[in-house]
Amino acid sequence: MDRLEITGGVRLEGDVAISGAKNATLPVLAATLLTDAPVSVSNVPHLNDVTTMIALLRRLGIDVAMHDAMRLEVGGGEAREHVAPYELVKTMRASILVLGPLLARLGRADVSLPGGCAIGARPVNIHVAGLKAMGAEVDIEGGYIRARAERLRGARLVLDTVTVTGTENLLMAATLARGESVIENAAREPEIMDLAALLTAMGARIEGAGTDTIHVQGVDTLGGASHRIMADRIETGTYLAAGAITGGRVRALGARPDTLDAVLAKLVEAGADVSVGDDWIELSMDGRRPRAVDLVTAPYPGFPTDMQAQFCALNAVADGAATITETVFENRFQHVLEMQRMGADFRLQGRTAVSRGVAGLKGAPVMATDLRASASLVLAALVADGVSQVERIYHIDRGYERIEEKLGRLGARIQRLHD
Ligand code: EPZ
Repeated sequence: MDRLEITGGVRLEGDVAISGAKNATLPVLAATLLTDAPVSVSNVPHLNDVTTMIALLRRLGIDVAMHDAMRLEVGGGEAREHVAPYELVKTMRASILVLGPLLARLGRADVSLPGGCAIGARPVNIHVAGLKAMGAEVDIEGGYIRARAERLRGARLVLDTVTVTGTENLLMAATLARGESVIENAAREPEIMDLAALLTAMGARIEGAGTDTIHVQGVDTLGGASHRIMADRIETGTYLAAGAITGGRVRALGARPDTLDAVLAKLVEAGADVSVGDDWIELSMDGRRPRAVDLVTAPYPGFPTDMQAQFCALNAVADGAATITETVFENRFQHVLEMQRMGADFRLQGRTAVSRGVAGLKGAPVMATDLRASASLVLAALVADGVSQVERIYHIDRGYERIEEKLGRLGARIQRLHD
């Protein structure tokens, strides 16, 4: 298995090019199942999760051609298969996103239950309840969700919990349902607006994407379209946090400042100078040590849970004490246990991590447990004294494109070792 070897102590300086958003690419690729016309997708990030989704689409009988590095030509033929098999779904939970489109397009879908992961149980009960409310017969048997519907009918859906992929699955299903659907308590993440932009370009009739109430007027068919994936706001926040933790200056190019208000506010509170343009964000610390910041994660536009681990790393070496409370997932502090091995001073109290900043961390071998935890361990290693080995970085390759190359360009002493 690959690992990253990082020698800490370098202030990062320079520009980093932001890739397309993983969490926009996955629903956008699933949406191509809603039509048998070709869909062109550009600014696609090279990530293991994207490769898995492409493999899933191909397994469903969809042609996917990859062009000049980051552009895909998808479809041009009807999905022939309706089964998303366990061996693919178990490697990427977001495979659940094919459930709504397959059911809406083919009238049937057998999708392996995604199961939990390191950060929580990750149930999909809201996805299933919504499809049932739209008239689908759904049984759970043998570890699979088996859904059938001659044609889905529009419904008023009130989601028990704000769920990103739940909103996306039901939004996609509603575009081909008979009549109007309303999704209440919908997630408001920018990736949902990106998905809705593609669906609208394909001929869907959607109002309110990005708010907590989405109206959809079902249509009989959807056509092809071209779509450019939005910039990855979590990748952007991660590289800005890398600049902050090392006391350096990082400029993220091809970014979307408008999707990062809560994160930029916390970086400023931590003592960073932040300036923004239409498609760039610059952070500078001028060698200052970050100040510890309190935060509570929440659905968008609140502070994103996917940036929580990165701010734990910041607080670990910041000046002062602080609390970070995780309200979205039930087990998302495993990175704290690994940082303690580097000398971080944390106390875990239920869903809150109480930190007292230390003057410095010591490099150590650490193990990644999930995507964002591995990113936070890389950040901690960048500022730790000595050499760290971050193991099991297949987690990191799921969500960060060429991380050692991008950090290396910023001056980090980092290399990928193949065991
Ligand atoms: C999406 O996951 C993201 N993944 C996650 O990013 C992100 O952390 C999460 O949203 C929250 O922002 C993708 O978009 C592919 P949820 P998702 O459904 O949709 C509960 C990353 O690092 N819930 O919004 O699976 C659930 O248990 C990943 O890129 C139900 O109870 O998350 C959780 O407590 C990690 N029933 C809460 O909702 C359901 O049917 C939010 O989960 C669905 C969800």
